[in-house]
Amino acid sequence: MATTFDYALSTEGTRLERSVLRELLHYAVDPEIISLAGGLPAGECLPLQGLRECLDTVLTRDGFRALQYSPQHPPLRARIAELMEARGVSCTPEQVFITNGNQQGLAILSRLFLDPGDPAVIEEVTFTGIQQVTVGRGAEVRTVPTDLDLGVDVDAVEAAFRREPRPRLLVLVTDFHNPLGVSIAAESRERLARLAAEHRVPLVEDDPYGSLRFTGDPLPPVKAYDDEGMVFYLGSFSKMLAPALRLGWMVAPVELMPRITTLRESLDLESTTLYQRAVAEFLGQGRVEGHLAALRTTHGARCDAMLEALGEHLSGVARWSRPEGGMFVWVELPADLDATELFQAAIAKKVAYVPGGFFSVHGGKRNTMRLNFSNVDPEAIREGVARLAGVVREALAPHPVPPHPPGGNSR
Ligand SMILES: Cc1ncc(COP(=O)(O)O)c(C=O)c1O
Repeated sequence: MATTFDYALSTEGTRLERSVLRELLHYAVDPEIISLAGGLPAGECLPLQGLRECLDTVLTRDGFRALQYSPQHPPLRARIAELMEARGVSCTPEQVFITNGNQQGLAILSRLFLDPGDPAVIEEVTFTGIQQVTVGRGAEVRTVPTDLDLGVDVDAVEAAFRREPRPRLLVLVTDFHNPLGVSIAAESRERLARLAAEHRVPLVEDDPYGSLRFTGDPLPPVKAYDDEGMVFYLGSFSKMLAPALRLGWMVAPVELMPRITTLRESLDLESTTLYQRAVAEFLGQGRVEGHLAALRTTHGARCDAMLEALGEHLSGVARWSRPEGGMFVWVELPADLDATELFQAAIAKKVAYVPGGFFSVHGGKRNTMRLNFSNVDPEAIREGVARLAGVVREALAPHPVPPHPPGGNSR
């Protein structure tokens, strides 16, 4: 039956845009295409056997209780508090709130603190899901730049805080930024926590990649420096265990828990009891460290393959970030190339990436691309980067000398 679109939608229902990242996911399943567009952890590292055994244990031991509605699972909150402690954050299980992943944590906190029209501070280049809960909610968005070596520009954050009216929210990605690959510099972390406290601006620390460091020394999250309950930490099992679990957590002050719980109830009531129990079991049996070690090794090797291939094929033409963890490399092409326009040529050569312009709040950075290394094997990474370089060089052919200095990695 033919229908015409004749529905009166809410402002938010109209303003929200579909995440381009999710649209690009279908390239990840076309076997002909080497997809550097994804945001998935290494498939073969997913803890299939471990989770199967933990699910079995839970169903056998807990029976029907594992399949019921239930309050947040206390042992999982306790295990998460231990994980936080290991990362330098002291919190009690009562400060841990289980979510269905960081996207839900972002949505809850944006609803808790932001009314449409309120000012919010986000990075000029940032994860599309952060744009959805700020720009998409009608916030008056103030953007701050992010340096490819040092992370977010803290002076710019302070300047945005000092402007009236005072922002209601700051959202940052701490480690191995999506899409930039950079982490917030050690010396900036304490200052950010201090600024949030001083200006009374809730700082949402979105940290789905913090445990995925494959080189360099771990840094404490911003939350580790928070004495005043102004930093809201978001952690996720999506990348550290499996995206399909749809489980994550928030660390927030106990006195806000009733508000957070009520907001969350209005969305989907609660997270799945069965998976909360299975993950608590997985953590309780001490399986996570071995799993993370394997994941880090695989991701690190793939990142190396990508950096080598970029050096081989695009040296002197492009610059790129050199991540110490996470899943993404950010590539800057010569200024007059538009990675969105090159996308179809890349698909014709059977390689996909995410045009960087989609991460730019103001639509700039069109000469950039985000490349994923975590879910592609090293051989395919080398071939994919070679194909991509072919596309870039063809586009450059009629152009004069490339503007970037030779050998030009960003760091
Ligand atoms: C920076 C960032 N925040 C949040 C999310 C959403 O994560 P989750 O699967 O935990 O909802 C992602 C997923 O890619 C991300 O990269």
